[in-house]
Parts: sequence; C-alpha cells; structure tokens
Amino acid sequence: MVCRAPSAAPVTVLCTARVQPHHVDSVRSCGRGVEVRAVRREEVEPHLPEADILVTWAVPDAWVARAARLRWVHVTSAGVDHLLGGALWRSEVLITNSRGVHATPMAEHVLGWLLMFARNLHVHLEHQRHRRWQREEGGQLSASTVGVVGLGAVGKEVARLCKACGARVLGLRRRPEPVPFVDRVVGPEGLRELLESSDYVVLALPLVPSTRGLVGREQLRWMKPDAVLVNVGRGALVDEAALVEALREGRLRGAALDTFTCEPLPPESPLWELPNVLLSPHVAGSFRGYMDRVVELFCDNLRRYLAGEPLRNVVDREAGY
Ligand code: OXD
Repeated sequence: MVCRAPSAAPVTVLCTARVQPHHVDSVRSCGRGVEVRAVRREEVEPHLPEADILVTWAVPDAWVARAARLRWVHVTSAGVDHLLGGALWRSEVLITNSRGVHATPMAEHVLGWLLMFARNLHVHLEHQRHRRWQREEGGQLSASTVGVVGLGAVGKEVARLCKACGARVLGLRRRPEPVPFVDRVVGPEGLRELLESSDYVVLALPLVPSTRGLVGREQLRWMKPDAVLVNVGRGALVDEAALVEALREGRLRGAALDTFTCEPLPPESPLWELPNVLLSPHVAGSFRGYMDRVVELFCDNLRRYLAGEPLRNVVDREAGY
C-alpha cells in the first residue's frame, strides 16, 4: 500500500511511546520537514489536531475524533487486539504494528520454559529451596514433539530453536504452506491432530474473534496428559478456568503462561499457586533495547512513507492482525 505521493510538505509525528532523545533525533533525520513531538499520554490532547502520524500503543476513540489530520498510526506492540472495533479500526487511517521485533526474545523465553519442563528444572529449583537432595528423572526435548500454533515471526523462530534442539516440530497456520524447520504444517482443521500429537503446544498467534477461546475444555481433553501448554499469544486464546481444572486434575502435565485473560493477573488467581505452572508477567517479548528496534522499524517506514512507497507491517483489518 502506498501512503502518499512523495512531497516535501512538513509532517508532524506525535509520539507517546517512551522514547529517548536519540530516538527523536533518528525520527527527525528521516526527512526534511519532519517535526517530532514526544509527549506523555496525559499530555497528548492539545497536539492531536496537528498530528499526521502517531506512534503509540492504545488509541482511545476520543483521540481519533480530535486528530483530523491523522493518516497513519504505528503501534509499538505486535498485537493489535486492543484496537479491534474501536474508532481507529473503523477509520481509514493506516495502522502498522511492531511485529517481528519480538521474535527472538519470545522464542528464547519459550525455549527456556520447554527446557525447564523437559529437564524438570523447575522441580529441582523447588527442591533446592527446601535443601532436598531428590533425584528426578528428566526427559529430553530432542525426543519430543512441539506443536506451534501460529507461524508468524514468533512461531517460526520457536520452530527454528526447537528444531536445533532436535525436536519434531508440527505447526498450524491459516494457509498450510511449508515453513522452514517445521516437519508438518496443518491448517486450522488440523488443530485436533496437532494437540493430540504434541508433547508441548506453543500458542503464538494473535487474538481475533476466530481465535478467542481456541483452546477450551474440549481441546484440552485432546492434549496428552503429559503435555505442556505454553501461551505467549494472548490470555483469551485459552479458557483459563478449564485450564486450571485440567491442571488440578492432572489431565495436563503443566502450563507456561506469559499472557492472561486479566492482566495484571489478580492475586487471587489459582494460577499463582499451581505447582505445575510457570508464569511471567507478559514480558516474553520485552528486552532491553526494545524501543531501539521499534524506532528502527518506524524510521524505515517513515522514509518509505515520505517517498510514497509501500510500508512494512501494515495491519490487515480483515484478518485482524
Ligand atoms: C505484543 C506483546 O503484542 O508483547 O507486542 O504481547
């Protein structure tokens, strides 16, 4: 998609993301006439009428109503489920996201969890805390099947790392075309086969109406009782109550979760206490230098925008991501 005809007309980039002065300099140096305003979310209102481009995360409907010149919004996350159906979503304003930036840290996060479960490291950690010399036999990731649901940038990198460890890798994507490092790719109708065959199931897909509750009570029953469910997509992909039930009843060996239906995870959630759950507070995609990568991506796109060229990472409103 080409955004605009090349011209030297001034462009105002309004940024509410937490950027450093060197980020602002990088954006400014993308072209003559680029003005950058970096402000906190609470201070954004008076700047909205002059903004051509917005770099931010969430976009309240009231912002869209005030931003009459707005042509393009770049979101600092990969997921755009928080925008679905809002005024921005319904508008003609172009949306780009930061997908791709997270692939390596997220895949490393997942691999860490898979190795912990494969080698019982979380169990040894617990024994260590109690000064218990208790020998537990571990398995091997190399002797396992990993099913990756969602083969975007994150899923592909998970597949690559798992393959490097010698695992068999299954994958599910909308269009079941071959993907490097994936032994067998199935389409959405292959979900049951993937769940029934995998020792580890990794959810790395966006939340859209068709993926909400993808793993419910029935799907959890399809999984092997000694399988582990990993979710780095979005909490609402999984029926959390059904998951807790399956974990409590030993119908599932464990779960490793970075995303939850309600974030922050409430203190009363049973997930905190289950011994077969490893969790992290939605940080699988975070890393030091995150904004450097986002700004790099945005600057590349800004140069394209100023030159009237197609942008990268344009959100497909029909697909929902
Ligand atoms: C994202 C995430 O969508 O980190 O960027 O979950």
